[in-house]
Amino acid sequence: MRVLCVCLGNICRSPMAEGVVRAKVAGLDVTVDSAGTGAWHVGDPPDRRAIHCAAARGYDLAHLRARRVERTDFGGFDRILAMDHQNLADLHRLRPVGAPAQIALFHPDGLGIPDPYHLGAEDFDHALDLIEEAADALVMHLKA
Ligand code: 4NP
Repeated sequence: MRVLCVCLGNICRSPMAEGVVRAKVAGLDVTVDSAGTGAWHVGDPPDRRAIHCAAARGYDLAHLRARRVERTDFGGFDRILAMDHQNLADLHRLRPVGAPAQIALFHPDGLGIPDPYHLGAEDFDHALDLIEEAADALVMHLKA
């Protein structure tokens, strides 16, 4: 199973999701990566607030670097998981015809993870709460 977590910039929500999912699938045959639909931050490490907030819960994001979603991702990953509804719509638009990847919202309750980029530290914490919840549901699904 190969899972790609996708947000807009790939410096806040999807790197946090990558770190959380990777920690929770330890020992399972699951590949985890993340990418953004936008190119502004390609090559950058995650936002320092995301790094800090994740580190406080035991997830190390410092080594991650942002990249953009590529056409080949739609064949290279089994599940591509969108952080919010805009990311989901963009992924459906970017998906090459006939590409096998399953595209879905990351959070199982149809909730978008609100973009914390222009907000404060508590918004990163709230995003991480939702990401941990969604990751627990994903891992239960993968183990079933
Ligand atoms: P992310 O947050 O999609 O959770 O990584 C954002 C980061 C940067 C920008 C937007 C959202 N930006 O416009 O630069």
